[in-house]
Amino acid sequence: MSLPLEGIKVIDMTGVQAGPAATQMLAWFGADVLKIERVGEGDITRRQLRDMPDVDALYFTQLNSNKRSMELNTKTPEGKAVLEKLIRESDILVENFGPGAMDRMGFTWEYMQELNPKIIFGSIKGFGENSRYSDLKVYENVAQAAGGSASVTGFWDGPPTVAGSALGDSNTGMHLVIGILTALRMRDQTGKGQKVSVSMQDANINLNRVKLRDQMRLEKTGHLQEYPQAGLGLGFGEAVPRGGNAGGGGQPGWVLKCKGWEEDPNAYIYMTIQGQNWKRTAEAIGKPEWAEDPEYATAEARMPKIFDIFKYIEENVLADKTKDEAVDYLRKFDIPCGPVKSMKEIAYDPDLRESGTIVEVEHKARGKYLTVGCPIKFTAFKPEIKESPLLGEHTVEALQQLGYSEAEIKELLDKKVVGETVHLKLATEI
Ligand code: COA
Repeated sequence: MSLPLEGIKVIDMTGVQAGPAATQMLAWFGADVLKIERVGEGDITRRQLRDMPDVDALYFTQLNSNKRSMELNTKTPEGKAVLEKLIRESDILVENFGPGAMDRMGFTWEYMQELNPKIIFGSIKGFGENSRYSDLKVYENVAQAAGGSASVTGFWDGPPTVAGSALGDSNTGMHLVIGILTALRMRDQTGKGQKVSVSMQDANINLNRVKLRDQMRLEKTGHLQEYPQAGLGLGFGEAVPRGGNAGGGGQPGWVLKCKGWEEDPNAYIYMTIQGQNWKRTAEAIGKPEWAEDPEYATAEARMPKIFDIFKYIEENVLADKTKDEAVDYLRKFDIPCGPVKSMKEIAYDPDLRESGTIVEVEHKARGKYLTVGCPIKFTAFKPEIKESPLLGEHTVEALQQLGYSEAEIKELLDKKVVGETVHLKLATEI
């Protein structure tokens, strides 16, 4: 079966997470993604947080599946010549080096356009080009800090808190994919490439739309009625506060304890008290009389006692139910709710395995490992998640495709302009 991006060639000069997440998705959709890596070293994540000696770390394998790997020193004249050839023959180049690294390497956007006016250049940085922070190197949590997420995450009596999810890294990569696909479509219309830039700060801010909504509301009214601060009488300052586990919309929700919470840190559900479903919610929690009681009948009346209501539900409805039993009970009343899933539960969830959201991949050096598959489901094709490449596994093949002769390739290898570490390793260690 042909894949949607078949025939699209991507030069992947990315590392760590934000860039690799983007190019990995392009590879899943059928693009030929050639990862350019430092000779003898490769992407730093190959060695970070290893769970097995001398084998590519999961950090690498989970973000670089379906790609090829070429070791190339792009700072040597011969290495530059190889990269120039690649640019002439490719559709997309993606990078997420520290600020200015591509320019220092000699590959400015202007030069790339000279080499190939059709090239699409995808670039990730921590901050936008005009930002006063544009010179900073940035990792995940700085993006969450600078993008607003940390200031609105956590509890009101605690410090700014970052989420465990990659709201800076992988999120930015996904934004870049949208930009690159849009640029590809535009190239179909104009015949020209373009530069697509996404900053981690911007991509994070894009997830904080409702928090900007709340900032505007706060400035207008001095109050945010759905935040716990309102019910607890804590008052509001000048900026959107941390709302604990409150819902982001107009419907109050909270994380509620279920049976076994004393031992199991994830024996909780998230439950929302939906205004339009209050009658059935009151029925579900064994207080049908609250449906019409003016003390409880409206969202405004409930808000000051919302924590008492949640406590009542925990003690009287959920205490004898596991989180799954709780969901099974509440779903009968059409109550929006769901279990708090641990990563262990996610790893072994049969539905997620069946849908391909969690997949097992066979890797020639480490054996089987789990990874997150494609979260987007298509009716016409299903991305197949394959192993990540070993370091330099495709160096020779890629040079041959560029027209280098055997003698030229040997010379490049001898001079360490390119490398094929994997083949040395396969013979000795793996
Ligand atoms: N051949 C020769 N040199 C290479 C090379 C290759 N194949 N690949 C990379 N290099 C060089 C770069 O040109 C750079 O050189 P210079 O800065 O001396 O000119 C050097 O290696 C270091 O690259 P850099 O990406 O800056 O690595 P780092 O480990 O110092 O920083 C980050 C890592 C992630 C902090 C930084 O890349 C960054 O801020 N990226 C942008 C934001 C981002 O994507 N962050 C999220 C990561 S998940």
